[in-house]
Amino acid sequence: MRILKRVTSLQRHLSTIKEESLTIGFIPTMGALHEGHMSLVQQSVKENDITVASVFVNPTQFNQKDDLDKYPRDLAKDAKLLKKNGCDYLFAPLPSQIYPPDLNTNVYIDIVHLTDLMEGPNRPGHFEGVVQVVKRLIDIVEPDKLYMGQKDFQQFTIIQYVIKGLELDVQLRVCPIIREDDGLAMSSRNVRLTEKHREISPIIYKTLLWAKDNILTESITTIETKAVAMLNEAGLKTEYFTIVDGRTLDKVTNVEQHQTVVACTAAWAGEVRLIDNMVLKGEINI
Ligand code: PAF
Repeated sequence: MRILKRVTSLQRHLSTIKEESLTIGFIPTMGALHEGHMSLVQQSVKENDITVASVFVNPTQFNQKDDLDKYPRDLAKDAKLLKKNGCDYLFAPLPSQIYPPDLNTNVYIDIVHLTDLMEGPNRPGHFEGVVQVVKRLIDIVEPDKLYMGQKDFQQFTIIQYVIKGLELDVQLRVCPIIREDDGLAMSSRNVRLTEKHREISPIIYKTLLWAKDNILTESITTIETKAVAMLNEAGLKTEYFTIVDGRTLDKVTNVEQHQTVVACTAAWAGEVRLIDNMVLKGEINI
């Protein structure tokens, strides 16, 4: 696996690959990689001739400078994991490569209707930053397929909207959530959980399963209210437990009117904010 830090050197390598009409799968990441990320790499390796991953802690998607500074960084460890899983190129640029002062990297597409619920209100400007960096990375790598995880449901939905809206020539592939044996969704944040909070966190998965079991018999309000109570009684502090349409992210009031219905949640386990989701009806349809 080659590790490249400059846009021009990555593009030089990739242009030879494109000349040979080989396909490229791309996984954008912010590092601190775990098995969840590796499932994306493995899927890309299966479906493409060449797999490229990026590790870039994107400053424009952080609301607080402190969060950005504290974000875990261990490129050597990430590189080892990527290599082991068959990645061909690791792109690990400095911010000046992604955001050179003479380049306008703003993306002109309105995503407000997809950001007014769930993660959006608590993280103003976050998704605009994600869109900016993902678009820039797609422009640099020009992949055939882009791999993202279902765990960030709102994120991949917004990226799919941008791909369609801007007619970007890339196919989004969404890979299922990878869970620990007890159901906790894998996340770079899990290592920060205290023993006590690690023990109670699988309640998130159990609550999502409960919501799925009851989606056709209970009202949405009942499910949302009971789910919040279940999470809080277990010792978490729920930020939201919201049932939305799987494509538009609009709040669902009547399940029958929607093809895909998804429950999305964010809850604090002590100092650690965990997110998770589950498709309650239908399938992810991108
Ligand atoms: O999900 C992430 O890790 C980031 O939001 C992404 C997609 C790599 C953009 O920085």
